[in-house]
Amino acid sequence: MKRSYLPISQPKGPSTLDIAELKCEGMSIEDIEALPAMYANAAMIAKNAGFGGVQIHAGHGFLLSQFLSPLFNRRTDGYDGSIEGRFRVVYEVIEAVREMVGDAFPIGIKINSTDQLEGGLTEEDAMGMIGIIDQTSIDLIDISGGTYFPGAPASSDSSSGSGPYFVSFAQRAKQITTISIMATGGFKTRQQAIDAIASGAVDMVSIGRGMALNPNLANDWLNIECGDSKFPRFDTNPPGGVTAWYYMRLTALAEDNKDAFDLDLESAMSIYDARDEARCDEWRQVFGDV
Ligand SMILES: Cc1cc2nc3c(=O)[nH]c(=O)nc-3n(C[C@H](O)[C@H](O)[C@H](O)COP(=O)(O)O)c2cc1C
Repeated sequence: MKRSYLPISQPKGPSTLDIAELKCEGMSIEDIEALPAMYANAAMIAKNAGFGGVQIHAGHGFLLSQFLSPLFNRRTDGYDGSIEGRFRVVYEVIEAVREMVGDAFPIGIKINSTDQLEGGLTEEDAMGMIGIIDQTSIDLIDISGGTYFPGAPASSDSSSGSGPYFVSFAQRAKQITTISIMATGGFKTRQQAIDAIASGAVDMVSIGRGMALNPNLANDWLNIECGDSKFPRFDTNPPGGVTAWYYMRLTALAEDNKDAFDLDLESAMSIYDARDEARCDEWRQVFGDV
């Protein structure tokens, strides 16, 4: 799985990859057949823990997203080919999760509107997927995009950008499904959220960085006086820097230390990397050197 952390894992993906930071073994048919039950078990753990719903992540270049992308999925066994074939494993996951959590428990799915990679998942593929998802018991489709790929910026890594990224695709999707649609990415102001919903393109919006800046944002937006999050402006934009900064911002929130939080990107990155390294040591002590 490409998003596995290489120092402590032995990643697998739809097909073998051996480039730069992306190395993984191709999955056997038995590996694939084991996936639906793994997702179903994870969903049940979430349900038993009291969560009000689960989201199947089939976007952003994670495992299911790789199956959907012709760039990563070069299989020849029915889990490949047309969008129906590439979607097959996702369909099996949806069915298994639904069977496990029951009819009344909400299940969402996050998909890419495009991988933003040449040869990857296209908007036409994604529209085909929406048509298939429409025939399943999914309750919410979360539309996002992009892929963690060396050199490709994560959408959370954008320090600029003036508006939501995926509203026009959501608008197209809305025309071919009755399932509720949510868009993720680039919402910075209350007015942007209102406009997206009022236009009929989406039923709801999802917020990442805005909530990391102000965890009370949803409540604040109910009151027009409260205003929008103040997004920081950075002088530099090293790859991964903005995301590392937000990770450290979330850490400060968790440690009840947000008022003292004042890191620049470079410091956030080095603290973040050092923390990961320390976590690897801890992992190896507990689980052995894998
Ligand atoms: C600190 C941070 C961590 C993130 N981690 C993940 C992740 O693990 N997996 C993922 O698919 N997206 C991750 N994202 C991306 C978000 O899900 C979202 O797509 C992105 O932030 C765009 O939404 P926004 O403009 O509201 O921030 C992360 C974003 C941030 C800021």
